[in-house]
Amino acid sequence: CGIVGYIGHRDAWPIIIKGLKRLEYRGYDSAGVALIDHGRLSIYKKAGKVKDLETFAQDENLNGTAGMGHTRWATHGAPSDRNSHPHTSNNGRLSIIHNGIIENYASLKEELGSRGHIFSSDTDTEVLVHLIEEVQEMEQLDLAEAVRLALAEVIGAYAIVVMDKADPDTLVAARKGSPMVVGVGEGEYFIASDATPIVEYTKNVIYLKDNELAVLTRQDILIKRLDNVIQTPKIHELELKLEMLEKGGYDHFMLKEIYEQPRSVKDCLRGRIYPEQGLVQLGGIKEYTEKLKNLDRIIIVACGTSWHAGLVGEYLIEEYARIPVEVEYASEFRYRNPIISEKDLVIAISQSGETADTMAAIEMAKEKGATIFGVCNVVGASIPRTSHAGVYTHAGPEIGVASTKAFTAQVTVLTLIALYMAQQRGKISTSAMTSLLTELDHIPEKIQEALSSDSYIKEIAAKFKDSRNCLFLGRGSGFPVALEGALKLKEISYIHAEGYPAAEMKHGPIALIDEEMPVVFIATRNSSYEKVISNIQEVKARKGKVIAIVTEGDTEVRQMADYCIEIPASDEAFLPLLATIPLQLLSYHIAVMRGCNVDQPRNLAKSVTVE
Ligand code: G6P
Repeated sequence: CGIVGYIGHRDAWPIIIKGLKRLEYRGYDSAGVALIDHGRLSIYKKAGKVKDLETFAQDENLNGTAGMGHTRWATHGAPSDRNSHPHTSNNGRLSIIHNGIIENYASLKEELGSRGHIFSSDTDTEVLVHLIEEVQEMEQLDLAEAVRLALAEVIGAYAIVVMDKADPDTLVAARKGSPMVVGVGEGEYFIASDATPIVEYTKNVIYLKDNELAVLTRQDILIKRLDNVIQTPKIHELELKLEMLEKGGYDHFMLKEIYEQPRSVKDCLRGRIYPEQGLVQLGGIKEYTEKLKNLDRIIIVACGTSWHAGLVGEYLIEEYARIPVEVEYASEFRYRNPIISEKDLVIAISQSGETADTMAAIEMAKEKGATIFGVCNVVGASIPRTSHAGVYTHAGPEIGVASTKAFTAQVTVLTLIALYMAQQRGKISTSAMTSLLTELDHIPEKIQEALSSDSYIKEIAAKFKDSRNCLFLGRGSGFPVALEGALKLKEISYIHAEGYPAAEMKHGPIALIDEEMPVVFIATRNSSYEKVISNIQEVKARKGKVIAIVTEGDTEVRQMADYCIEIPASDEAFLPLLATIPLQLLSYHIAVMRGCNVDQPRNLAKSVTVE
């Protein structure tokens, strides 16, 4: 979910609505706003997108210079008007917006219910505002103190903003496990799940920490821990620029982000590779160089697309640095009592740096003594702050829910980490490094070349847009590319798609192949080329339709495949960075042709801060 709040001298409504639109990538099944104007509390909420809320409220009284808004990704209770936030207390005084999950909400609800509280939604959030009300009334407390004491009874994760109509000049916010940033203006404060709603008003922000509570008035901010110890806030300057958050002439953020990849990969490499000297420098993990020399094992933890990047990382680190690597879904890893020692390095990969399962996985590994590296895109997010060290991907804000440029940047960073480790552990010669880095330096241009197949890919998309299933096959590091290709297609076009190691096809998926079934092969010229060709023949023998990603100038696959999309030749190590590009474009065009909302696919959210 996304939350935004404002208190100051301007009208709150337009600031909140604009902010919610920027946060919509975090969830978009319902939205709501609460405004306080001269002691009057107005709440508008609606199932659907933020623009539906805007239309719904257009003729209402939208005055007020303090308020808050929410865009929801449903956990407890279906998306509906009544389950939308803000939720209010029984006495109508308090309202709340919440991101996260209150785990003990059922027992709290029962207790509150037995004391006469009546609930008008199915959410865990409403229970929390009733709890705050009860604490406030029982002890005649001000809002901040009531929130603080109520939170002591809560188990779970939250970022909340609470308003009290009897105290119209205060917003109270608190966080535990879910992100929250405060923007510091002149006589005004902003609060949001991330900095994107804030950046056009101020560059000065405070990142609220876990177990902290902020009391905002027009003139002042007070931050204290939930144990009542006052904190001195540290103001950070945002590097984010407003144009990074706009579509810049593209139809969709996803397309813009696909096209940004030559630049984002270049930004990711900048200052980190020195081809002539055969050197990789990673300032963020330099302090841990000695540690890298004595590692037993690396465990990569991540979710979704980031997990696919992790699989590419496994291949590269084992190949070059010669350290055993395991790649784990963070959600599985954290719940199965894994064996971890001080000689393990855990690399957590996360675009947002906020994914709840990834965060919990590293906290557990840290407790067991492992060293934690974060590979994240959002600077200052929770995962990089919890990690011992790390390498930012520097892809710039990714708004499209389906990850594209963040993936290639993650793969770039993992390539750098693999080569850095190889160098530090003496597993690679300077001349081999020089030749690899020289090639890596050219990858941004080669990505640009790969993008030039766009119009041809669009033609292929038109042929397959009505398919019901699709198979993606690859070998070696082409396998994670296949997984990522399948994920992209299914998440934005709702076509069922599966990624498989090409050789495994004959152990199951081959049963699905008929003349209707498109099969996408990663068939570039590398060590598994001949084997992939045999797999293509197996598909053709069963009349499947083959779309092959091939190396420029390929003739052999061309004789068998129905469609060949060329990518520039490169070292096998960099294949994932190039082969991914046409797959992103293919999914994008198919989804657009099917009329799908590519930037906000149904049921998904970009930042999953619940388990
Ligand atoms: C969500 C997003 C995916 C993303 C995954 C992990 O499911 O929709 O695009 O790959 O979360 O997110 P993270 O921010 O940790 O990379």
